[in-house]
Amino acid sequence: MKKPALGKKPGEFPPYLFRDLDKKRQIAVNQGKDVISLAVGDPDIPTPAAIARFAAKEVLKPANHSYPQGRGTLRLRQTIAGWHKKRHGITLNPETEILTLIGSKEGLAHLPFALIDRGDTVIMPDPCYPAYKTGVLLSEANIKRLPLSAAKGFLPDLSALPRSFFKGAKLLFLNYPNNPTGAVADLKFYAGAVAAAKRHGFWIAQDAAYSEIFFGRPSASILQVPGAKDVAVEFYSLSKTYCMTGWRLAWMIGNPEVVGALTKLKENLDSGQFNAIQETAVFCLKNHDALVAPICKVFRARADFFIGALKKAGWTVFQPGATFFVWAKPPARVKSLDCVYRVLDEASVLITPGSGFGPLGEGYVRFSLTAPEKRIRQAADRISRMEW
Ligand SMILES: Cc1ncc(COP(=O)(O)O)c(C=O)c1O
Repeated sequence: MKKPALGKKPGEFPPYLFRDLDKKRQIAVNQGKDVISLAVGDPDIPTPAAIARFAAKEVLKPANHSYPQGRGTLRLRQTIAGWHKKRHGITLNPETEILTLIGSKEGLAHLPFALIDRGDTVIMPDPCYPAYKTGVLLSEANIKRLPLSAAKGFLPDLSALPRSFFKGAKLLFLNYPNNPTGAVADLKFYAGAVAAAKRHGFWIAQDAAYSEIFFGRPSASILQVPGAKDVAVEFYSLSKTYCMTGWRLAWMIGNPEVVGALTKLKENLDSGQFNAIQETAVFCLKNHDALVAPICKVFRARADFFIGALKKAGWTVFQPGATFFVWAKPPARVKSLDCVYRVLDEASVLITPGSGFGPLGEGYVRFSLTAPEKRIRQAADRISRMEW
C-alpha cells in the first residue's frame, strides 16, 4: 500500500494544553484521589434557566431549522449594535461593522487568513491565550511576542517600543480583560494602542471574551477611542458572560473592511450558527443586566476569598480586575510545570502552568475559579497546607 502522508502543518502545533493536563488528572483520579480541577476556563455555573428555556422553544420552531444566515441574522446584528450603544456608547452599522461567529476562538483563529500573507508579522502578547497562534501558524506568518509584566499591570507600553519592533507587523492581538492574568485596560491604554497602530500601519484585534466578568468599573471597549474603527476590531462572546461555553456564539465588531474580509472568508468556510442559538443570543443581550449580575457576584466572591487564602499562604498574587482567573506565583521559586505537578500530587488540585501561555508565563500558574465554592474552599485549604 502506498501510504498517504499527513500534512506538515498540524505537526507544528503544540499539543492542546488541557489535553495533557486532563490526562494527569485522570491518572490521579484512577489512583483514588479526590481531584479538584481549577484548570480549564469553563464555568461550573449552568447556563441561566431562563436562557435554556427560551432556547428550547426556539429549537422547536421549524423556521429555525434551515441553514442560518452566515454573518448573523439582521435581528441579532441589530441587537448587538443596540447593546454596544447602551454598554459602550458606540455606534455600529449592523450591515457592515458586525459579524457573528461560532465562538470567538474560531473567529480569532480564522482572522489571520483574512488579513495576513505568508511572511507577515503578527504581534501577540506574552503570556497570552494560545489560540491566537493557530491562524498565524497556518498562514505561515511570523510571530513576535509583546512582553507583558506584572510591574506594568500586564499592559504593554507600546509607545516605548522602538520602530524596529513593529517592522513588518500587520496585526496585533490584544486581550482585555486578560486571560491568564485578569488584568484590565482603560481607554488611555487603548488610545495608545490605536495611535501605535496608525503610526506603524497594523490592525488590532482586541479579544474581549471576558468583557462582562468585571469586579470594579465596567470594562471599556477599544472602539470607544475616537478613530479606533480605522484600525481595530473587537471580539465578544456569549461563552463566559452567560456561562454558555457549549452553545457557541460570539461576534466581531469594528473596522468594516476587516469585518467584510472575515465575512467573505467565513461564507466560504462555514454556514454560521444555528438560528435558534442566534435568537437565544438576542434574548441574552436584551436581558443582559439581570442575567449577568448574579454570575459576576459569584465570581467576585470566589476571587476575594481565594486570593486572600493564597496570600496568607505566602503566594504572590496579581489582583485581577476581571475574569475568573487568578495568576500567581508559589512561595518558592519553582518552574510552572513543577508547581502544577506538586500541587496535583500534594493537594490533589489541578491548575494550569503559566508557561503554557508563553515564555514570560514561566514561574506563574493560573487558577480558574470555575468550581463550586465548597470545592474552591477545599482547594485553598489543601494548597495552604503545602510546604515550599
Ligand atoms: C481569551 C479568550 N478568548 C477567547 C476564548 C474563546 O471563547 P469562545 O470561543 O468560547 O467564544 C477564550 C476561551 O477560553 C479565551 O480565554
